[in-house]
Amino acid sequence: MMRTRPLKVALLGCGVVGSEVARIMTTHAEDLAARIGAPVELAGVAVRRPSKVRAGIDPALITTDAMALVKRGDIDVVVEVIGGIEPARTLITTAFEHGASVVSANKALLAEDGTTLYEAAERHGRDLYFEAAVAGAIPLVRPLRESLAGDKVNRVLGIVNGTTNFILDRMDTAGSGYSEALDEATALGYAEADPTADVEGFDAAAKAAILAGIAFHTRVRLDDVHREGITEVTSADLASAQKMGCTVKLLAICERAADGLSVTARVHPAMIPLSHPLASVREAYNAVFVEAEAAGRLMFYGPGAGGAPTASAVLGDLVAVCRNKLADATGPGESAYTQLPVGAMGEVVTRYHISLDVADKPGVLAQVATVFAEHGVSIDTVRQKGRQDGDGEAALVVVTHRAPDAALSGTVEALRKLDTVRGVASIMRVEGE
Ligand code: HSE
Repeated sequence: MMRTRPLKVALLGCGVVGSEVARIMTTHAEDLAARIGAPVELAGVAVRRPSKVRAGIDPALITTDAMALVKRGDIDVVVEVIGGIEPARTLITTAFEHGASVVSANKALLAEDGTTLYEAAERHGRDLYFEAAVAGAIPLVRPLRESLAGDKVNRVLGIVNGTTNFILDRMDTAGSGYSEALDEATALGYAEADPTADVEGFDAAAKAAILAGIAFHTRVRLDDVHREGITEVTSADLASAQKMGCTVKLLAICERAADGLSVTARVHPAMIPLSHPLASVREAYNAVFVEAEAAGRLMFYGPGAGGAPTASAVLGDLVAVCRNKLADATGPGESAYTQLPVGAMGEVVTRYHISLDVADKPGVLAQVATVFAEHGVSIDTVRQKGRQDGDGEAALVVVTHRAPDAALSGTVEALRKLDTVRGVASIMRVEGE
């Protein structure tokens, strides 16, 4: 039976995502009401620039006082799409204190200080939903928190940043250099004027922290995530990857250690074989592979950013939270019961592709191989090519078997000290085999 009294929603932020949320709430009002069992009403919209014209939004709802809005006491759900740490954190915790549940798209805040939010939600008996914080429209948080709640997730491997995927895709398929591909991403509106958060891997690392925490039922913060961006990936790396039947992707990888006693979370560029499903994720799309003990391998694919796709995730959460409100219940809260420690990058075990510039003379290959052996890193393949200009140097490409990251770092450090090694041109991990 439909309740006639509407559920009241406060929207914090009315930018690309917020305006889409407001638009869909209006245009799909009847469907949303039917699915929830009560109408939902936009009761206030907090913005920074009140003079901006916002089509379809009653100007009487606009306020610059977000704090007064969340304190009103008659708000059922606060939708937070302003991003950043403060004032978002205080607004969310204040909303919980004043009776509202919260839907948030704020990955930076959840990765930095999710614990404060979870604890506040639990203390006040409210919901905190955040599907939109990771990979836009792609359902990932709900599948991990609910659909896979009876399984054991061992690994989450994904492309969770569209801007960097677009850049790497252009470098791979159009042969563009990094700067040229970044310029194209900026012109198309994928990369921001300051692209640091995307290209240096901060955005992906925040998403990795959130996913690892949910997947392994433990607390993982942004600082726990090893992070390397794509700014040093070169056309030569893409060419090397192609020679190996691979491409290069910026991957977020969250893993349970083989002994099950710790987890790791990392973001870095990596070579993956063209046969891996993630290799075919093109342009600005996102895709996440989840490996669970009973379910096996699952792949989630779709648009990871943009106003409408992100609003879709927000509205899905809004419907769920409203249903919970009507049932006088709450959905899943924080689950950090395993309290697994987060291991350092040195503990990660994977394969490596190392490009060296070496002197082209007898004994050099043996010398290089010895350094790998001394550090317990087993070589899988070696490819050597003398330079055409006859300068006495050769390009040496070594691909290893699986080894701990610390062992590889030790190997590279020792290689750099060899007189015959003129330079370490690149080191890239090889994943997904
Ligand atoms: N800037 C992100 C991306 C979207 O390029 O995927 C927001 O997380």
